[in-house]
Amino acid sequence: MNHSYSISEVANVFNITTNKIRYYEKKGLLKPLRDSNNEYRKFNNEDIMTLQLILLYRSIGLSISNIKDIIENKNNKNYLNHFNNQWEIVNNEIQRLTIIRDSLENILDKLYMNGESELDSDILDVIKRANKIRDIKNNWKDKWNFNDWAKNYDKTIVEDRGEVKLYKNYNLILDKVYNLASENSKKGFKFLEIGVGTGNLSSKFLRNNCDIVGMDQSREMLSIAKKKYPKLKVRLGEF
Ligand SMILES: C[S@@+](CC[C@H](N)C(=O)[O-])C[C@H]1O[C@@H](n2cnc3c(N)ncnc32)[C@H](O)[C@@H]1O
Repeated sequence: MNHSYSISEVANVFNITTNKIRYYEKKGLLKPLRDSNNEYRKFNNEDIMTLQLILLYRSIGLSISNIKDIIENKNNKNYLNHFNNQWEIVNNEIQRLTIIRDSLENILDKLYMNGESELDSDILDVIKRANKIRDIKNNWKDKWNFNDWAKNYDKTIVEDRGEVKLYKNYNLILDKVYNLASENSKKGFKFLEIGVGTGNLSSKFLRNNCDIVGMDQSREMLSIAKKKYPKLKVRLGEF
């Protein structure tokens, strides 16, 4: 039989306030039944599981509306979308804080050196440099729109249309890069392909059991690479 719990019991179990539970209900994340006699909420095991999920998702910073969408649309594509987005938010924040930490360390180094005379301008320089790095990152745009190109990218390579004939020696170049880099694999090196695209180069490393990670700023490229080579480790990121 499915046991039911009162709102206070549930709040006690999770060590949260009853208001928090009511708030999640108001936002449509929880839908407990009501006792027909007194209208009190009755939480069943499924509600408890959902609340546990909500709290876990909150702990990694997911917003209420995103959690609602995850709970309502439990499929791989939707999970990927939300967790990739959240990863991006966390990664950007780490980068922002790293730049600030580095500038503070830089300023502290200068202060320990005791050069009083140029102190103000030194400190300003460090902060300006840090802001410049941040601006470069924030203003980077994918001018080629690789996300749109992704689904036809492998076709482009084969057809190699256009005057420039960019892909004329594509396979030859990939083989050459692989042969040069793989000499190092004997020494136990790990590999990172920046701009992995649909994974054509990385697949050569995979086939030969090398430890390789493919990084790309385009989610669509990564998703195609992953479909083609499920064993390829991929990471979203900008270089
Ligand atoms: C022309 S494709 C090459 C793909 C693959 N390496 C190949 O040989 O077929 C370039 C790839 O690099 C990625 N890319 C371009 N600039 C990047 C950057 N700054 N950071 C990360 N990826 C980038 C693009 O999204 C695209 O998938």
